[in-house]
Amino acid sequence: MQRILTGIQSTGVPHLGNMVGAILPALALSQKIKEPCFFFIADLHTLTTPHSPSQRSHFAYSVAAAWLAAGLDPAKDFLYRQSRIPTVCELTWYLSAHAPYPMLANAHAFKEKSHKRAEVNVGLFTYPLLMAADILLYGGTHIPVGRDQQQHLEMTRDIAQRMNRTYGTLFAIPEPLITQDVPLLPGTDGQKMSKSYGNTLNIFLPERDLYKGIMSIKTDSTPLGAPKNPETCAVFQLYSHLASSRATQLMKENYQRGGYGYGMAKKALFALMLGKFKKERALFNHYMAQPALLEEKLQEGEENVRAVALQKIKEVRAALGYLPR
Ligand code: ADP
Ligand code: TRP
Repeated sequence: MQRILTGIQSTGVPHLGNMVGAILPALALSQKIKEPCFFFIADLHTLTTPHSPSQRSHFAYSVAAAWLAAGLDPAKDFLYRQSRIPTVCELTWYLSAHAPYPMLANAHAFKEKSHKRAEVNVGLFTYPLLMAADILLYGGTHIPVGRDQQQHLEMTRDIAQRMNRTYGTLFAIPEPLITQDVPLLPGTDGQKMSKSYGNTLNIFLPERDLYKGIMSIKTDSTPLGAPKNPETCAVFQLYSHLASSRATQLMKENYQRGGYGYGMAKKALFALMLGKFKKERALFNHYMAQPALLEEKLQEGEENVRAVALQKIKEVRAALGYLPR
């Protein structure tokens, strides 16, 4: 049986890159299979970075609203908050006692920050174990993730295999689904769009703010009359990821011909985004204005996955000798 499972950290309101690079492709995968997919909000993982409690709950709702706005159907797929099934913390502990220390010490995400030892918390160190528990607790078999998560998936597989060898088959061995054709969108400064670079475009913003964001995309100083290079321009790259191939070709010709300014390209990108995400923008605001409705949808998902988690944790407890014989 295939079980597609993925999580997104609730460290901010999902941006255009998150939508196009993670949420929409995951929902497209869901449409190809009959079984429910497990899509969750990794709100426990956000404790490893500084956020206020009110930001934490606001962002969890924003991520939920973004999934629903993007078309997640709660009658088919399960949408849930990681923190609402605390069984995942129990499994994290069991996994941690089976995970070799050097494997975690070699994790990229930890190594990158470990030069600032004093600022690193143990949560960041054990982050991959919580992620492994997220997957193994629910029997995830196919895990759509970005390339940066590949190492975490390898660790998950490693720990699952170790435990299976020791205790008999407890866990399905998950496979990463790293979609090659998912584009990496640039942000307003031309680097990869990322919350951590403060260069994101938030497609759910009111029109005026979205317009301002698009107008702030950095471009070079080629004069209006001169031909421009579409390939090096963030406005064109964003446009081409969202537009039809015909519209992209026309835009390319505009750039190469000259007499077409970056301001015009930005206005075209703005119009394209408003049109393309019209339904999503309306739905996102609909959900964000009704926290009770969001709660209801989340609790429905949480009810469904709780049963799966309990079944698995019972098997693990029994295997470890924590249940009466
Ligand atoms: P951020 O870099 O903004 O913190 P995350 O690391 O939380 O984003 O990524 C969440 C998901 O969104 C991941 O699956 C990641 O691959 C995808 N993603 C993030 N940024 C982009 C981008 N610029 N283009 C495409 N996909 C992206
Ligand atoms: N670490 C992932 C990220 O930052 C989020 C995540 C947490 C996740 N648990 C997961 C992704 C389990 C897939 C499966 O993008």
